Parts: sequence; C-alpha cells; structure tokens
Amino acid sequence: MPLIENNVDLQPYNTFGLPGRASRLVRVRSEDDVRSAIAHPELGRMPRFILGGGSNVMLTGDVDALVVKVEVPGLKLVETREDEWIVEAGAGESWHGLVEWTLARGLPGLENLAFIPGTVGAAPVQNIGAYGLELSERFESLDAVELASGLTRTLDREECRFGYRDSIFKGDAAGSFLITRVRLRLPRPWRPLLGYPDLSTLKEQGATPSVAPTEVFDRVCTVRRAKLPDPAVLGNAGSFFKNPVICARQFSALIEREPAIVHYPLPGGDYKLAAGWLIEACGWKGRNMGRAGVHDRQALVLVNRGGASGRAVMDLAAAIQQSVFERFAIRLEPEPTVF
Ligand code: EPU
Repeated sequence: MPLIENNVDLQPYNTFGLPGRASRLVRVRSEDDVRSAIAHPELGRMPRFILGGGSNVMLTGDVDALVVKVEVPGLKLVETREDEWIVEAGAGESWHGLVEWTLARGLPGLENLAFIPGTVGAAPVQNIGAYGLELSERFESLDAVELASGLTRTLDREECRFGYRDSIFKGDAAGSFLITRVRLRLPRPWRPLLGYPDLSTLKEQGATPSVAPTEVFDRVCTVRRAKLPDPAVLGNAGSFFKNPVICARQFSALIEREPAIVHYPLPGGDYKLAAGWLIEACGWKGRNMGRAGVHDRQALVLVNRGGASGRAVMDLAAAIQQSVFERFAIRLEPEPTVF
C-alpha cells in the first residue's frame, strides 16, 4: 500500500499557489498503487481528486476528498516504425522534461509544445496546445486505470475524443480514469511547424528544412518566457479562459462594430477569437482586484499577486467575464478545472 498522508497543505502542489488542504493524500507510482488505494476499505469510499503537476487547477478551498497525486515515472522509446517513433512516458513525468528528453535523443516533434508546465498525465486531459500544434496530433494511445473496476485500459486517439482544450476526461469520463502512461507518435521525417506568427521569423532566416528542432524549441521557450509569468515567481495556471468560438453570423455582426478584433477563421466556417485581446480591450490588462490580478504582458493569464485565495481569483474572473459579455456578448469559459 502506498504511503498515505493526512491534512496536507496543497499550496506547493498548485502553480497558482492557492491555499487549500487535503484531508488525505496518496502518491501513486504504478497501476498497482492505484488499485491498492481504490481497494482500501476506508479510502476506497472517499471521493477522489486526481492531481498531476497542479498547473491547470483552481483551488477554491480545502479538498474533502482523497487527493491522488500521480507520480508514475518512466521515459522510453518503445517502437521505431518506418514513418514514426513511438515514445512512452509515465504520467508523473514533467511534460517539459519529456520534450527535452526526446530532443536530446534525436526524436523531434514535440518542440512546439516546449515549456508547458504540468505533467505528462495531465496533457491529454486538456489536450494541451501551443504554437500551431496540439497534443492530439502527436498522440498514439494511453493507459489508464478505470477507477470503478480497477482494470487497466488502453485508449486510442478516437476514444479520447480530443477537442480544443478538451477530451473525454473532461466530459463523459471525468473522474472515471486515472491516466498512468501516455504514448506519443513522432513523425519521420521531421518537418518544422512554423505557421504560428511568433515562430514565422525562423522561416525568414533560411530555407525551412535548415531550421533545427532545437532552434524551434529555443524560440518557443523564449516566447513563452517573455509572455507568460514563471509560476515559481508569480502564481498562475497559464491561460485562464479558452479562446471563444463563434458562428459566422455572430462574427459578421461583431466585426462590423469592432473591426480590430483578433480572429481566426476555422475550417467549418466558425471563427475563433483571441480572448486575451477581448480582455485587454475591456481595460483589464495589468489590473488587480485584491490579491488577484491580470498579467501585464498577456491578459489571458490571471495571477496570484501573493496571498490570493481561490475565491479572489474567481471573483476577478467573474468581473472579467461580465465586462467581456457586456461589450462583446461573448461568454468566456474558464480553462482550468475549478475545485
Ligand atoms: N492578445 C492581445 N492582448 C493580450 C494577449 C493576446 O491583444 O493581452 C492578442 C495577441 O496580440 C495575438 C492574439 O491575441 O494577436 C493571440 O495571442 P497569443 O499568441 O499570446 O496566444 P493566445 O491565443 O492568447 C493561446 C493559448 C496558449 C498558447 C498560445 C500560443 C489558449 C486558451 N491559450 O494563447 O496556451 O501558449 O496560444 O499558442 O488557447 C494555456 O492554454 O495555458 C496557454 C498558455
């Protein structure tokens, strides 16, 4: 049976640095650890709260549940196919550590997703994405323990039902699985993805194939460092809201009133808007409400100015949602999971 801790301070375990205590916390390093925890006569009956790197959670108070901290280790190349490599990582590994590990072994393909905080196991839950690449495009399959039965199941890409910052683990299967291992496919030959505006200057420096994966990696890390606050210095959970998607009719009415609005046409005819732009346009960039604030270089990121409670962050988020709704008639949806 893995070690169980009582009355654990969760502040060091969430990148927002929000206060909250767990009545019970168990660290799991294998599928068998998970099975022992859920078969435990007392703990097995408690509600569960699965915690990875705590980089996409909003704690609004104490957690009266069994916190299962996923610490499954391991990084390996499991298969070499003619057109791709398959790597497998334990859910408890750091996502950025995995990206570095693949590049150091000459297995590129994840560099656009460099420097994203959090663990490997959390990456499929919200289908992490950045700089023109989403995890789902590199996803092969994952292993997860089904908590009701204790059985290990393997889910492929289709079964995970990935969407924009979304998957089955946030929808129908929320709370049903604990992800233990993730397998990713890295296409051969490697081709750089430089379509995102922040990376396009790499293209101008030379012919595209001459760009090395490590140059893309370095550029992504530089851009993220410049725009996004370091959670070790200023607590945050990355983008606080999703970029909203609206239909063509709503968009054409909106662009007439707000011609400067940043927008991206989507293949089906809908439009995605930059939530950071909407929030900045409402005057929130750099502003504080109590100890919670809006980052001064990226309005989509809410920050803990030191000593903020989860409630303070939620109040700020609600005030922002109201301003954006009043001006643009758009409802912003939070990205982190709120507990
Ligand atoms: N913008 C503003 N003001 C702001 C912020 C952004 O006008 O304060 C404008 C920018 O000028 C740009 C556009 O909005 O025209 C997009 O900005 P940016 O490139 O910074 O990306 P984003 O849409 O704000 C998304 C992801 C990030 C990801 C970046 C890069 C979401 C919710 N966020 O942000 O993901 O790193 O693209 O790909 O999709 C995260 O999910 O936690 C996250 C950081």
